[in-house]
Amino acid sequence: MAHSHHHHDHDLEIEELAIGPSSRTRRTRMTERHRRLVRETTLQPSNLILPLFVVEDKPSFRKSIDSMPGVEQLGIDGILRNSEAALEARLGGIILFGIPENKDEYGSEAYNDQGVIQNAVRQIKKRFPELLVATDVCLCEYTEHGHCGVVERNRNGEIEIVNDKTVELLVREAVSHAEAGSDLISPSDMMDGRIGAIRDALDQSGFSTLPIMSYSAKYASGLYGPFRDAAGSTPSFGDRRSHQMDVANSDEALRVVQRDIEEGADIVMVKPAISSLDIIRRIREQFAMPTAAYQVSGEYSMIKAAGRNDWIDEERVMLESLTSIKRAGASIILTYFALQAADVIRSRDL
Ligand code: PBG
Ligand code: ZN
Repeated sequence: MAHSHHHHDHDLEIEELAIGPSSRTRRTRMTERHRRLVRETTLQPSNLILPLFVVEDKPSFRKSIDSMPGVEQLGIDGILRNSEAALEARLGGIILFGIPENKDEYGSEAYNDQGVIQNAVRQIKKRFPELLVATDVCLCEYTEHGHCGVVERNRNGEIEIVNDKTVELLVREAVSHAEAGSDLISPSDMMDGRIGAIRDALDQSGFSTLPIMSYSAKYASGLYGPFRDAAGSTPSFGDRRSHQMDVANSDEALRVVQRDIEEGADIVMVKPAISSLDIIRRIREQFAMPTAAYQVSGEYSMIKAAGRNDWIDEERVMLESLTSIKRAGASIILTYFALQAADVIRSRDL
């Protein structure tokens, strides 16, 4: 009796196994040919924008940045080399950051028609008219104190970055970039009202068809440190919390994006990327706008550093992070990995 009972149990187990789980999600994961067939997100070079740091006046200048392995400050020769590589790799484009010879209280080199960015854009567009050249609009690379705007003491004796005076200067910078030939004006300053003011000024200057990519949801992040080494834009006192967003906030990102769209932004950006995947997703779903994400310097450097130590597989984590950013809803990614990623995408036929 005991024996037959045991036997009976065994039969049952086999029967259960033969039926199996009702859903075998592994079926479409078994081989690369199946995985490829059902893959939802694919990275393309045209999704990627390469940031470049341009040095003034010294054409052959090259200086590597310790905190950003593989990234350099470059004179125009190196910038043209990278521009050609970006074009050949079929990237979405490049974005330029300027390192001026002279800085002052009001960042006047930012809106000098013969400034570092203006001269670089003219040369790049002359050689490679088909390459999309975006220009970052802010004052922090041009002010001696490293702040994104005009600094004054308010009535309480506290240091303040003054919004409306700053916007006036940003408008001049944006128009000056447009006149030099920028393909995409990209304000990263986070002052209120700058998108509308820049849009009006561009329209009045004959650039009504030139688009704006707004750094809309830009968080006050510790991940911009290496960039500030590269651009020489570390603030000499204080921080950027009076204009960049508090990392704790999510609804606020929707409000600033909505405002920027109403003021005329054509592309909205979220930054940093990996720590804001939830924000990217909300913005994409809510507004259905071309949505960009900036995989910032610190994100890049963390992957590079761990990769160099053989703690992680750099190439694999690079692709994983970029794919996750796109999966979250960003169709445009600004990344220092742009050329490297395009190479891998092409050679692996991803
Ligand atoms: C300038 C600017 C910054 C970045 C893009 N534009 C730095 C900052 O806000 O301090 C950060 C990019 C990066 O970290 O890669 N306002
Ligand atoms: Zn700035």
